[in-house]
Amino acid sequence: MKIIRNIKEMSEVAKKHRQRRKSIGLVPTMGALHEGHLSLVRQARRENVFVVVSIFVNPAQFGAKEDLKSYPEPFKNDLVSCRKEGVDIIFHPEAKQIYPEGYKTYVEVKNLSDLLCGKPRPGHFIGVATIVTKFFNIVQPDTAYFGQKDAQQAVIIKKMVKDLNIPVEIKVMPIVRQKDGLAMSSRNTYLSAQGKKDALVLSQSLNLAKDLIQKGLRDSHKIIHSMNNLIKNKKAAKIEYIAIVDSKNLKPIEIIKNHCLIALAVKIGKARLIDNYLVT
Ligand code: PAJ
Repeated sequence: MKIIRNIKEMSEVAKKHRQRRKSIGLVPTMGALHEGHLSLVRQARRENVFVVVSIFVNPAQFGAKEDLKSYPEPFKNDLVSCRKEGVDIIFHPEAKQIYPEGYKTYVEVKNLSDLLCGKPRPGHFIGVATIVTKFFNIVQPDTAYFGQKDAQQAVIIKKMVKDLNIPVEIKVMPIVRQKDGLAMSSRNTYLSAQGKKDALVLSQSLNLAKDLIQKGLRDSHKIIHSMNNLIKNKKAAKIEYIAIVDSKNLKPIEIIKNHCLIALAVKIGKARLIDNYLVT
């Protein structure tokens, strides 16, 4: 496994593999790798000759008051995990190279970036779309792997690739959860012992929604109301949003007919957690 920090070197190595017609799989991450990330890496490993994992805590997707400075960076552990999974390249560029002085170009996927998580985090998805575009250009992978955990991110990246004719196939892998139901996240490390218990309310509220739908309830407002009540029982939980939306355009759905996405963001202490359930 090779660690590449330089953009030009990364491009050249990837180009050599492309010329030999070796399929390239890219897994973009911000590190602090857990089983959720590793499920993407394993899928990439199964499907490609050459696997690149990018580890880059992207400053452009963090707001001024967010956790850029405290974001966990257990780089050595990440290397051990990636080596175990048979990753070929870790691309770990410096922020200075990615965003040199005078950097001016950003990618915005309109009418999707400003919804749900985009409301309290203006600019977040512009930062995400921009870095992912840059990585696609640098590595030029055949396939890139994303997690359903960040459902809105996956929708935005798919739309961006379609709109900009970027020749990359996007694969979205299911949410990996702990045994107790908590969706794995690098930000779970911010949770206290009590916070870890309180945080279970996110997946519990999604299970409640699932049950209500299975019982025949279709009114989104009523489902959201029940989820809201369950979460409010936890004093430490601060709901940012609970939404039932179309799984492609992310617009609210009043009455559930077929496919939709139930998504929520809740703060538990200083950890901002997201989770979702895709109704199919
Ligand atoms: P990060 O939060 O490190 O996540 C990297 C990838 O892992 C994302 O596609 C995310 O959806 C996926 N992932 C995280 N937790 C998961 C889980 N429990 N189950 C399945 N997949 C999971 O998302 C980002 O980084 C960044 O925004 C990035 C795309 C790298 C751009 O900077």
